[in-house]
Amino acid sequence: MIDYEDALDYSSRWMDLIHKTDFPTQELAHQIIDESKNNFAEHYNRNWLEYRKSVTESGDWASVEWTGSGAVIKDVLGREFLDFLGGFGMMDLGWSHPTVVETVKAQLNRSPMPSQELLDPLRGVLAKLLASITPGDLKYSWFGASGTEANEAAMKIAKLYTGKTAFIVGVRAFHGKTMGSLSLMGKSDYRAQMGAMYGGQVYHVPFGDADAVEKQLEICDKVGVGVAAVMFEPIQGESGAIVPPDDFWPRIREATKKHKVLLIADEVQTGLGRTGKLWGVEHWNVVPDILTVAKSLGGGVMPISAVTTTEEIYQPMMYPNPFMHTTTTGGGALACSAAISAIHVTLRERLWEQAAQKGEYLITQLEKFVVQYPHIFERITGKGLLIGMHFKNPEIGYKVAAGLFKRGVLVAGTLTSAQTIRVEPPLIVTQTQIDNFIDRLQDTLQDIAKH
Ligand SMILES: Cc1ncc(COP(=O)(O)O)c(C=O)c1O
Repeated sequence: MIDYEDALDYSSRWMDLIHKTDFPTQELAHQIIDESKNNFAEHYNRNWLEYRKSVTESGDWASVEWTGSGAVIKDVLGREFLDFLGGFGMMDLGWSHPTVVETVKAQLNRSPMPSQELLDPLRGVLAKLLASITPGDLKYSWFGASGTEANEAAMKIAKLYTGKTAFIVGVRAFHGKTMGSLSLMGKSDYRAQMGAMYGGQVYHVPFGDADAVEKQLEICDKVGVGVAAVMFEPIQGESGAIVPPDDFWPRIREATKKHKVLLIADEVQTGLGRTGKLWGVEHWNVVPDILTVAKSLGGGVMPISAVTTTEEIYQPMMYPNPFMHTTTTGGGALACSAAISAIHVTLRERLWEQAAQKGEYLITQLEKFVVQYPHIFERITGKGLLIGMHFKNPEIGYKVAAGLFKRGVLVAGTLTSAQTIRVEPPLIVTQTQIDNFIDRLQDTLQDIAKH
């Protein structure tokens, strides 16, 4: 039987808690911890608690997040953690950036969602802003809520424009987990059990291997398979901040032009400054035909994603049917207000330059550890503040993540392995916070080396 009364009481209790501005008492905090553990175990995903051991075991499960500011998260007990995970690239501006929060609050007071029939001005403003800050002649945008939605839209646009159906993508690529994006994903952990997903053909080639892309395009031509697009992350994120060789992007740009195939850059994680340029593809001066962005586009405050392309390629999204690809809630006014202010802050603070300078310092320090602890580290990869620490095996990676967490630093492995830990602090992280991170990592490594 549906228990209306219980649900009413429970939601009311939590609405009261949400409205409270002061920190919970220790007693209430412990109740919230128990309740959160129970809710996750009984109703959300029990194995989440098991899997995130580096976080959950080192602090007796007490790591229930409550609030954050800049590069610091506070848990419900009031303990502070340096956030060197940055929501896997969502927190370029840090937690609750005041400019974004204030803009979103103001828009919330006016109108959070569009009518769906009139013109909502912010959607147009955001599209215009993206046209002015993306490379080349990318001009038209479509908005969704998540990275995977942007990539699904990119796939549809490529199919509509070319009339072809195949895609060439990277081994170990990560483009999202809805069926289309998942088909392009290059990781068996998520794909294998799903069987055939996308109806067209998908060819996976090693990331960074321009020869392989060229060869695949030639084979497709020879056997008469029509390729709609080649799609890669500029720097692979989830697979551990893997930077391709410098000739990769320029050569695949040439090859796609030669074969009349579109080139899609998935900038969901690399976009908006993370790698030390505003866009990852700028490291190689390449202009893609389609670019997708999400994560930090919402300023760490709202979910929003975009796919941006040229006027010519966007034609079939406009004519004859402008509702060819839509979503009711994606790109609503609140989300757009967050994105407009996030772009503003990114440009005002020139965050990509900060990422380049801070990343260089951090990578130099981390490389010293690779020399100092050769039995722990394999190597360091990445650019800007998208950095991968690769360890000898997952167990060591787990020990590093857990050791850091005990010392008040949040990092995480790739989704299913601790062998590689991504370091992705907010781009606004301070020099002192970076040095604190280095000190605590040094302490952790010393501890591991001793045992
Ligand atoms: C490069 C890339 N593309 C797409 C996605 C999927 O984005 P979302 O999780 O918002 O669907 C991710 C997420 O990590 C990503 O890193």
